[in-house]
Amino acid sequence: MNLPYYISWSKQKNAPVFEIESVDGIKVKTSNGHELIDMSSISYQAHFGHNHPIIIKHIKEQLDTIPMSSPKGIYPHKNQATLDLLAYMKKEDGKIFYTTSGAESVENALKIARDITKKKIVLARKNSYHGATLGALSATGDWRNPAHMTPEGWVVRIPEPRELDSLKKTRDVILKNNPDNIAAIIIETITGGNGVYSATNEWWLGIRSLCDEFNILLIMDEVVCGFERTGAAFGYMHYPQAVNPDLICLAKGISGGMVPFGAVWTSLKIAQYYEENLLCCGLTNYAHPLGLAAMRGVLEIVQNAEFQKNLKLVEKIFKSELEKLKNSILVKEIRVKGMLCAIDLTKTIDNKKFIENGLYLVSQTNRLILAPPLIITKSELEVGIQKIFEVLKGEE
Ligand SMILES: Cc1ncc(COP(=O)(O)O)c(C=O)c1O
Repeated sequence: MNLPYYISWSKQKNAPVFEIESVDGIKVKTSNGHELIDMSSISYQAHFGHNHPIIIKHIKEQLDTIPMSSPKGIYPHKNQATLDLLAYMKKEDGKIFYTTSGAESVENALKIARDITKKKIVLARKNSYHGATLGALSATGDWRNPAHMTPEGWVVRIPEPRELDSLKKTRDVILKNNPDNIAAIIIETITGGNGVYSATNEWWLGIRSLCDEFNILLIMDEVVCGFERTGAAFGYMHYPQAVNPDLICLAKGISGGMVPFGAVWTSLKIAQYYEENLLCCGLTNYAHPLGLAAMRGVLEIVQNAEFQKNLKLVEKIFKSELEKLKNSILVKEIRVKGMLCAIDLTKTIDNKKFIENGLYLVSQTNRLILAPPLIITKSELEVGIQKIFEVLKGEE
C-alpha cells in the first residue's frame, strides 16, 4: 500500500496496518468486513473503548464554549478539573503541568528535575519505554533508543529490580557517576509494553531511600499504569506511600486516547520552588480545553459505581481466563497486573493471524501485550481470550 504518510516504528514497505471503517465500544470494524475485539486498547490508551459517550459529550460541550487553547487563560473547568484530578490521584498537595502526550510529560518531568536539582544525569532502566522525543527516548532503554544516537552521558542505566543485589548495584552506579551529577531516576511504576514486570515494595523503598540519601528526584512514569489499568487507580497505589514520588508522568488513559493529552504531577516542594523561580516549560496547546474536557469525562467514568463494579469483575475474569492459555504448549509465562498482561511465547506469531481471527492486539516478537479496554464485558473478554487460544492452538 502506497501511503502519503508514515507508519510509526516500521519499515514503510509492507508496514503492518489495518483499515478502520468504524468503531463501536471495544470493537473496531475494518473495511474488509472484519470485526476486531481490541485486546490491547490499541496502544494502551483506549481505556474506555473507542467512542465512550461520556467523553464525547464533554468534548462536544467544550467545542461549543471555549474550544481554543490558551496557555495562560483561566476558566472554570480548568481549575475544577485539575482539583478533581489531584483528588483522584490522592495527591492534593502537589501541582499539575499539562502536556499533549506521554513523551511530552516525560520530557517536562526531566526538564523540571534537572532545573530543580541543577544536576544533569538521569538514571533509568534498560527494560523501559518512555516516549519518542529526544529526552524521553534517551531515558528509554529498549530497542528504540540506539537507532537515534541520543546524547551520550544524559542517561545512565541502573540494574533491573529482579537482578541479584539490584539495590546495592544501583548504589554503586550512583557513586560511580557522582551523586552530585545525578538529577533524577525515572522508572515505569509497572513496566508496560516491555513485559509487565512489577518490582517489590522492598525495591521501591530502597530506591526512595537512595533518592533521599543523594538528593535525587524520583520520577514515576504512569503513562501506561495510570487511570485504573493495573488494578488500582494508579500504579504507585500498589506500593507503600513512603515511596513518595517527586514527579508523576501521565498520558494515554487521561483522555482515553480521544484527544492528545498528558500531565505531570509535581510535589509541593517543587511547586513551592516555582513560586519564586521561572518555570521554563510551556506548550501552545498547554492545558488544551478539549484535553481537559476528555479528562473530565474520564474522571466521571472512573468514579462511576457501575464502571468500578464491572472493572472488578473483569479483572477477576481476565486472570482466570488467562490461566486457560497455559493449556497451549506455546505459552512460556504469563504476567498479569489488573487489566495489563504480558504473555511470553516460545515462538513469534505473525500479528496477521490474530487479526484474521477477529482480534486486535499488540505483539512484539514472541510476546503479546494485552490491555483490554476497561469497559469490556465478561463475555467479550471470554470471547477475546478464547480467540487468542485458538490462534495459539493453530500455531502449535
Ligand atoms: C510507559 C510509557 N511512557 C511514555 C510513553 C510515551 O507516550 P506517547 O506515545 O503518548 O508519547 C509510552 C508510550 O507507549 C509509555 O508506554
